[in-house]
Amino acid sequence: MSDIREKAAWSAEKLDQDAASENFTKRLRRLRRTQGLRALVREARVSVDDLILPLFVTDGVGVSEEVTSMPGVFRESVDIVSARVERAVAAGIRAVLLFGIPDAKDAGGSASYDPEGAVQRSLGMLKDRFPDLVLVADTCLCEYTDHGHCGLLDERADVDNDATLEVLARIAVSQAEAGADLVAPSGMIDRQVGAVRAALDDAGYQRVGIMAYSAKYASVFYGPFRDAAHGAPTFGDRRGHQMDPANAGEALREARQDLEEGADLIMVKPALAYLDVVRRMSDAFEGVPLVAYNVSGEYAMVKAAAAAGWLAEQRVVMEMLTAMKRAGADLIITYHALDVARWLRDGD
Ligand code: PBG
Repeated sequence: MSDIREKAAWSAEKLDQDAASENFTKRLRRLRRTQGLRALVREARVSVDDLILPLFVTDGVGVSEEVTSMPGVFRESVDIVSARVERAVAAGIRAVLLFGIPDAKDAGGSASYDPEGAVQRSLGMLKDRFPDLVLVADTCLCEYTDHGHCGLLDERADVDNDATLEVLARIAVSQAEAGADLVAPSGMIDRQVGAVRAALDDAGYQRVGIMAYSAKYASVFYGPFRDAAHGAPTFGDRRGHQMDPANAGEALREARQDLEEGADLIMVKPALAYLDVVRRMSDAFEGVPLVAYNVSGEYAMVKAAAAAGWLAEQRVVMEMLTAMKRAGADLIITYHALDVARWLRDGD
């Protein structure tokens, strides 16, 4: 046996002996005894700096509709959303992610790049009122098309990848013009990051970054979001372009491709059932900001269980978000963001 292997075998044996001895267990427990000690040795923690609050903005004035399957989440017109953002900023939130829900949808999703669209108007208003707030805009067609798919359809009613790229580029430029700091192409359209990067650069928006939905799974956990966005596909589903929940290695390929195309941040979505993917992405792309999206279905489950008195909401949310950080997420998009910011501020 080589020296090194002998040494390794020795320390493994020594550890086993230690573990068996009472001393070893006591040594671990000693550091769990008080809140102060636990805080001192804690490995992962959620900070308000990590949180991104998603918002649903809609046309009209004075509109505020609670999403049935997401208690506490609202579709709001620009005037109303401003008050919510004011509360978020007061609680320390640094970033919001905007989704638009237009009154009128069409086959080409034309409201998505309308300079007077709800997202564009919100971006302008928020940039003026909260110049330090990071504004992220969702760059996708599904909330804007009457058929509910994430792209233009070809004559076989399949998403036409390359025609869709042109529209995504147009949406991203309109969002950059309106004041977005980051755009987030979320449709899993092939080469969307490259197309958006090129269009932003051509239009003079080199400073606007891309948050790429690199590993977006074809997940049932998006159900409540589709309720919020009135955006379920009217036929078929998204399994043709979103990832198969059974695959993890493929997520690394998706992220690598997005980074090559110019992504500034990468994402795993949903979060909870995919923490192994978060861990692998974090290991594989050290130094690249990694976002976990705690999606609508995850939120709805917690809210329903809490309303029934079956789970303690604050503790379960903090446990979930801490697990995302432990798995390697740097940032978390979550509908709980405002509550979490307040809990962190007020202590527990
Ligand atoms: C697509 C998009 C979706 C979500 C975010 N962006 C819906 C989908 O792909 O069906 C889901 C987010 C959530 O469930 O919270 N623009």
